[in-house]
Amino acid sequence: MKRLIKEILSEKELSKHHLIELLSVTEENERQLIFKKAAQIRDKYCGKYIYLRGLIEYSNICSKNCNYCGIRASNKQISRYCITPQELEKAVEFARINDFSSIVIQSGERSNKEFVDNIERDVINIISKGDLNITLSCGEQSFETYSKWRSAGVKRYLLRIETTNRVLFKKLHPLDFNHDFDNRLNALKNIKKAGFQTGTGVMIGLPFQTEADLADDLIFFRDLDIDMVGMGPYVEHWDTPLYKFHKQLLPAQKRFDISLLMIAVLRILMKDINIAAATALDALNPNGRVEAIKVGANVFMPNITPFHYRSEYFLYSGKPCKNEIGIDLLSSINQIAEETGYKIGFGMDGDSKHIINKDLGNS
Ligand code: 5AD
Ligand code: SF4
Repeated sequence: MKRLIKEILSEKELSKHHLIELLSVTEENERQLIFKKAAQIRDKYCGKYIYLRGLIEYSNICSKNCNYCGIRASNKQISRYCITPQELEKAVEFARINDFSSIVIQSGERSNKEFVDNIERDVINIISKGDLNITLSCGEQSFETYSKWRSAGVKRYLLRIETTNRVLFKKLHPLDFNHDFDNRLNALKNIKKAGFQTGTGVMIGLPFQTEADLADDLIFFRDLDIDMVGMGPYVEHWDTPLYKFHKQLLPAQKRFDISLLMIAVLRILMKDINIAAATALDALNPNGRVEAIKVGANVFMPNITPFHYRSEYFLYSGKPCKNEIGIDLLSSINQIAEETGYKIGFGMDGDSKHIINKDLGNS
């Protein structure tokens, strides 16, 4: 017999079966019950702040060919860039002056020596000037590279597992050693081993993905004792191999709805971790990230990439490339505070409470 959502929400431990039930709700009043519970937990365990991470899309040059991604190596339609040291300096300065305290450097994946050394040089440079912490999101690398970047002072690393369903993972990627589930899992373990605060995530609403897959994703985050999660909806890109399944996709609104549910249910499952409001949410709903913050996300990543590159970092159709810089960007950040009722964590580095609790031996 189907259990009442209210009863499931009062359980101490959530089983896979419970998670599937929560992710399957369609009734608005039941969705609201889940959202309310997630918001209460967020307030209790994470406080009233939204932490900022200034997002810098460092380069769209990528050696991989993920079947869903617009900047995959085989896409010859986009012009490739790598941010110059001067442009990087300018973006970083903006984050520093405006008290963001923390930036994310995200890049297409390369593992050649030049790339690895450039990242090392750039992060050392940024960190040496103080005031900013760095999260790297530069894909799968060797343990040596992760250790090198960790020694350079980078504190957090984000590598999405994309999906924990191995069969689905194979459909999403070319069948070769460069796109291997076990290698990716191993990379994630190496990130932890190298001493980073470790983040991962998945895409939500992929073709062939079920609620049971999503429940497994949540259990994976919990079992790996992850510190932060960045997950968002899959958004089709017409010039990628996965586009051939676009007619089988859930409608955009449904993908958005289930993405919000994933965030809320994750908050209920992992009370004190950092959860980012992913940019892709805004591709499906203009207020997407704000909605995510209302239901459990506590990290916001304003895009501070030089404007002329934003549209080239084109992972999916309809990527929000708002022309927001300077005052405009700051005022839309402040508007988020107003709309959600939370405070913006200017000047706060924003470690997850999970890390703090782990250090204190409370979790
Ligand atoms: N839709 C949504 N997210 C995507 N990503 C790549 N392509 C897409 C897409 N079509 C995400 C992946 C990757 C991150 C850099 O961008 O999850 O890890
Ligand atoms: Fe490259 Fe990442 Fe896109 Fe895959 S998802 S093609 S690794 S940028």
